[in-house]
Amino acid sequence: MAREFSTVGVVGLGTMGAGIVEVFARNGIDVVAVEISAPALERGRATLKGSTDRAVAKGKLAEADRDALHERVHFAVGLDALHSVDLVIEAVPEHLDLKQRIFAELDRVCGPETILATNTSSLSVTEISVATSRPNQVIGIHFFNPAPVMKLVEVVRTVVTAPEVVADVEALCARLGKVDVTINDRAGFIANALLFGYLNHAVGMFEAHYATREDIDAAMKLGCGLPMGPLALMDLIGLDTAYEILDTMYRRGGRDRRHAPVPLLKQMVTAGLLGRKSGRGFYTYERPGSPVVVPDEATPLATDGALADGARAIAKVGVVGSGTMATGIIEVFAKAGYEVVSVTRGMEKSAKVCEAVKTSLNKGVVRGKLAEADRDAALGRISWSATLDHLADVDLVVEAVVEELSVKKALFASLDEICKPGVVLATTTSSLPVIDVAMATQRPADVVGLHFFNPAPVMPLVEVVRTIRTSPEATATARAVCAALGKTGVVCGDRSGFIVNALLFPYLNDAVKMLEASYSTADDIDHAMKLGCGYPMGPFELLDVVGLDVSLAIQRELYLELREPGFAPAPLLEHLVTAGYLGRKTRRGFRDHSHR
Ligand SMILES: NC(=O)c1ccc[n+]([C@@H]2O[C@H](COP(=O)([O-])OP(=O)(O)OC[C@H]3O[C@@H](n4cnc5c(N)ncnc54)[C@H](O)[C@@H]3O)[C@@H](O)[C@H]2O)c1
Repeated sequence: MAREFSTVGVVGLGTMGAGIVEVFARNGIDVVAVEISAPALERGRATLKGSTDRAVAKGKLAEADRDALHERVHFAVGLDALHSVDLVIEAVPEHLDLKQRIFAELDRVCGPETILATNTSSLSVTEISVATSRPNQVIGIHFFNPAPVMKLVEVVRTVVTAPEVVADVEALCARLGKVDVTINDRAGFIANALLFGYLNHAVGMFEAHYATREDIDAAMKLGCGLPMGPLALMDLIGLDTAYEILDTMYRRGGRDRRHAPVPLLKQMVTAGLLGRKSGRGFYTYERPGSPVVVPDEATPLATDGALADGARAIAKVGVVGSGTMATGIIEVFAKAGYEVVSVTRGMEKSAKVCEAVKTSLNKGVVRGKLAEADRDAALGRISWSATLDHLADVDLVVEAVVEELSVKKALFASLDEICKPGVVLATTTSSLPVIDVAMATQRPADVVGLHFFNPAPVMPLVEVVRTIRTSPEATATARAVCAALGKTGVVCGDRSGFIVNALLFPYLNDAVKMLEASYSTADDIDHAMKLGCGYPMGPFELLDVVGLDVSLAIQRELYLELREPGFAPAPLLEHLVTAGYLGRKTRRGFRDHSHR
């Protein structure tokens, strides 16, 4: 029978500790909540109160339940108050020596049966455990931020943790309504090992002025459906904590440069910009501890639909190509009220594209999302052509032909001869350097990337790629067009993978490497990212949807461009592709989809 935990202790009531106290108290367990000083204790108490008051205001917690919850929590300064608890969870700052000191002290204060747990994100649970005389009763219980919300708990066993201790903690997690994954003691466990390289990379993009904080965050939220962008997440985690986690992962995890904290992080921590908890990090908050972002000097000015920064007026748009992307893009422009000239390589192809656009618009009508009159008006705005000459009077051309540089270059050279001056020429390439395409024309200042996501009518994001030759007016025009399409245009530099793919695919590749190393299973890794980080799909689910061949090709490009050893494609990914297991489209990838 699982052991009964009636009273638990929590040490450190910061970002995580205060949330962990709430989790236990909500589930009817008495808590002794301990801090280092009276002011810190008051801060912890205020955090708990703020969080439970918000839950009441949102109707998620009854007032009586909140009051009962608070009665279950006993606050104290100093570890001595923990003498008779059944379990202690430590959530003090991420420093090994501090944690070891606390565990040695807990070992002295607590009864011999008490289980001692750490909430560390990256330190070795084993090294913490040997500071006590009971390493077999020491375990990692890694909650996710915010602890009352996130469903996942990583239970970390060391080589000496007693199996019954693991079983007792697993049962406790179930009682708390959490989903646990039990793993061995390795830097970053599952979720952080996959998350922090990505977060650090995003900070690096920001530091390099590759894109703004708003655009980096919007790209990952809208392009991947993540609950928060990486920089907002860094602010939530706390930049000091994130720095320590990265630093430990770098030292413990094979000195992968991707975990070496970006210098800006250290500077921000030194300057006291710790994120939400200090009221300022990448963003500025209403006050310390508040989740409400307020405008600051870096906040972009709202343009209210006006043409900003010399953006040119666009009325007529040419779309070149006859594939999935071109079809979706034609529909998007026509629906938004633009006159569209579609150019394909023959009227037969045009007829097919026309059919596809009609089918898609009709679906909108059937679903009640589009009025019949609007469908007809949209179709009426499109003209179909098989010759580029019909692009002589358009204001913007969007190229969406095959992903081959020579083809795109030849097309841009022709557009250069045909189109009137001042036209913005856009390529939808997802992997080729936009500058190569731009230099095929005599007007590279007017060339941008417009990277739509598939399916274009649905996905709210467009990456606007500016090369080192693109003019500010062309960039502003592209951005204004995105806004007129009802999409968010994020501006970024002309680097492999732009924002989304550059941040997404290395993470997916890391997940494959983790599976390959037999650290965990595909199911547990998928669970960890969905329940610990709120991702809409786990990495293996997503890889099977995207296609393993496509993923491998993108990862290869990133590796070739950046020469980052950590970006080398996972051998398992290569082997699956070689074996023809490409994901859902071949009914087998990381999972078998043949029965679905
Ligand atoms: N922030 C996150 O998103 C997150 C997520 C999961 C796990 N963690 C881990 O949780 C732990 C705590 O991180 P955090 O972000 O909550 O840190 P934090 O800085 O927000 O809070 C740490 C708290 O510990 C208190 N403290 C320091 N020394 C103490 C002592 N000797 N005795 C009692 N209390 C003491 C501090 O006063 C502070 O309130 C770290 O190990 C971290 O890696 C953090």
